[in-house]
Amino acid sequence: MTERAASTEPTTGPTEPTTAPAPEPLLVDGAPAETLWPLDPDQRHLNHGSFGAVPNRVLEYQADLRDSMEASPIGWFGQLPDRVNAARAQMADLLHLPAGGTVFVPNASAGMSVAYASLALPRGADVVVTNHGYGAVVQGARRAAARAGGTVTVVDVPLGASDDDAETAILAAIGSRTAMLVLDHITSATATLFPVQRICRRARELGVLTVVDGAHSPGVLAQPWTPEADVWVGNLHKFACAPRGSAVLVAREEVRQDLFPLVDSWGGTLAFPERFNFGGTDDLTSYLAAPFAYDYLDQVLGWTAIRTYTGELADYGQAVVSAAMSEATGQDAHVSLRHPVGPYRLIALPRGLGHTREDADRLRDEILQALGIEAAFTSFDGRGYCRLSTHAYTVAADHEDFAARAVPWLVEAAHQ
Ligand SMILES: Cc1ncc(COP(=O)(O)O)c(C=O)c1O
Repeated sequence: MTERAASTEPTTGPTEPTTAPAPEPLLVDGAPAETLWPLDPDQRHLNHGSFGAVPNRVLEYQADLRDSMEASPIGWFGQLPDRVNAARAQMADLLHLPAGGTVFVPNASAGMSVAYASLALPRGADVVVTNHGYGAVVQGARRAAARAGGTVTVVDVPLGASDDDAETAILAAIGSRTAMLVLDHITSATATLFPVQRICRRARELGVLTVVDGAHSPGVLAQPWTPEADVWVGNLHKFACAPRGSAVLVAREEVRQDLFPLVDSWGGTLAFPERFNFGGTDDLTSYLAAPFAYDYLDQVLGWTAIRTYTGELADYGQAVVSAAMSEATGQDAHVSLRHPVGPYRLIALPRGLGHTREDADRLRDEILQALGIEAAFTSFDGRGYCRLSTHAYTVAADHEDFAARAVPWLVEAAHQ
């Protein structure tokens, strides 16, 4: 993967040429990797990042678990906390997380909510977030601050800022009332890797609780966890391809015993992490299937190969799509980030498109309906972007088709 120079705006010079040809598609026993997924072959799938995609074999494994649950509910639920506990330890091992600090939660939103609900903020506290924060997670921070009669400070970090500039801007917002800092590991709207480790270390030295939203990190990063964060949360149902409703929360030793599940249940009197093995009566097959999913993709494709392939294909896709967009609009659509992340790349949309989150979501739905292309559009600082995602099943033809059909559609939409 190439690292590009920083810019705060989509670049205005000539679009960078394609530097490398598309990588050869990943194969499993001679068949394209896409045959491992049940994705509709009549659609293009360039948005793994929003809701993930679960391989057939993982769905079968989960269906078998559900069959066992339905065949003998008493047998199933009696054993469930022990099975969740074993899956939890296995997942921690696979992702290089500390087993004693790792618990399952249903999704990143739930994990962040655990942090907000459990970590006490002093009266009048300030919670610091950034303008790259995921909207729903920032809303949670606002509610947590309001419960304490406090405030939220939003730090502006320009798109393409250097690590030093991001750190300086964020640390400058920490004041005497700051009790908590909430950071994204890989940002949703801007697909950028934040230097969370060093910022969390410094914030902790200043006595500030740090909570990292690593929704996109598992699978994308070989070492997804942020050890310096008091609480780090990562989705398993995004790049790691686990069934939906599976995420992990990892807590530093100092805060573990302060954390409780969102649902009060029989684990309430137990210590962390065991208290999270209980959640009331629920279908927890997604937790049990999560380590299976991660291990399965490692066996059939290998996570190192997936990361290499998706990074190279993302570079290719960005070059092809941004060249088509630049040519169609006469404005350079290439977005240079300091740290483009693994499978994600940004392309600037024509001005006027996607300048709010609602507009961006509308584009996503309309382009699927019009062209059968699943894509993600985001909005940051009043500009719209296309966030291209790749996974093992993505091929160069998906990007080429996006350039050929979606780009003219978007340019036309900008003129309406
Ligand atoms: C950065 C970030 N945080 C949190 C979430 C929420 O994830 P979930 O809907 O799985 O809770 C997302 C979803 O895309 C995200 O991108």
